[in-house]
Amino acid sequence: MAMVCLSDFEVYAKKYLPKTTWDFFAAGADDGTTRDDNILAYKRIRFRPRVLRDVSAVDIRTKLLGTEISFPVGIAPTGFHQLACPDGEKSTARAAKAMNVCYIASTYSTSSLEEISAAAPRSFQWFQLYIHRNRAVSKQLVQQAEALGFQGLVLTADLPYTGKRRDDVRNGFRLPPHMNLKNLEGAFEVCKMMSLDPSVTWNDIHWLQSLTHLPIIIKGILTKADAELAVTHGAQGIIVSNHGGRQLDGGPATIDALVEVVEAVQGRVEVYLDGGIRKGSDVLKALALGAKCVFIGRPALWGLAYKGEEGLQDVLRILRDEFRLSMGLTG
Ligand code: FNR
Repeated sequence: MAMVCLSDFEVYAKKYLPKTTWDFFAAGADDGTTRDDNILAYKRIRFRPRVLRDVSAVDIRTKLLGTEISFPVGIAPTGFHQLACPDGEKSTARAAKAMNVCYIASTYSTSSLEEISAAAPRSFQWFQLYIHRNRAVSKQLVQQAEALGFQGLVLTADLPYTGKRRDDVRNGFRLPPHMNLKNLEGAFEVCKMMSLDPSVTWNDIHWLQSLTHLPIIIKGILTKADAELAVTHGAQGIIVSNHGGRQLDGGPATIDALVEVVEAVQGRVEVYLDGGIRKGSDVLKALALGAKCVFIGRPALWGLAYKGEEGLQDVLRILRDEFRLSMGLTG
């Protein structure tokens, strides 16, 4: 099968992954309205192309908090990569390094931070944190990430509780017994996901700042008010995200929320976006509306499901080439 666009990887993943895994990756909360709108919203946006502007050289490199990446797409944090391919997050780390993009490793990885870091030494990696009730565990993870050379701390703010994903409930989804949440091994006796702390507030940003020198990026912001609070609490970046529509159903598509956030921060911090990026032209739309970079969640998992590290590289390469073409065609 010739893999030409990201949808081809989606078709492949749906066909070959076990149904419970496919359902877990695909899930949105409740009716899936926000998940689907993340994608539909791009189709409502039109370019205003310019012509005769010499597009013979198109430079698609950019910088995230000062670090150069080869094009403005990174890997959003998603859990459980071993469900997609045997080497799990180690494959993800290698693919991101090969393509010179930023990989945000999830707290809920099936490889440890140490393994992820060792799989792709001297590459551009951020660590995504969920704050747990047991603060000592979160503290240790943050400090371990910094010691291992992760260059940013991404605090996911939109998951005080896990959203209701109907197919996961129907399937009784759980991680297979031979896979482990390596970063949390030994930390809890019972269900690890139940240990998230729903009492987290903006004050906890100060607590995080007391633990680490890493720049803090807040993921899950959708409004002007929260964007303002992120800046005043010293965040260095914001990821406009609705968790791929897996948390609150009924909120805005991320591309629709982006402008409000960009206007609120007025260039004081970098603004990124994830959710519904499926084509290079989606990346360009997000950049045109003020994002510095976008991140992909599910498409990365489809790439891993297709051919591990190589499959994820294929996904990134296709997005890169489509993005460059869109730049050229819009002048
Ligand atoms: C996620 N997402 C997520 N986010 C996070 O901060 N930590 C995590 O562990 C996870 N885990 C996770 C698992 C799966 C299977 C999915 C699909 C998503 C959300 C993710 O970072 C991102 O916000 C969305 O996936 C972006 O939307 P797209 O690209 O999947 O449309």
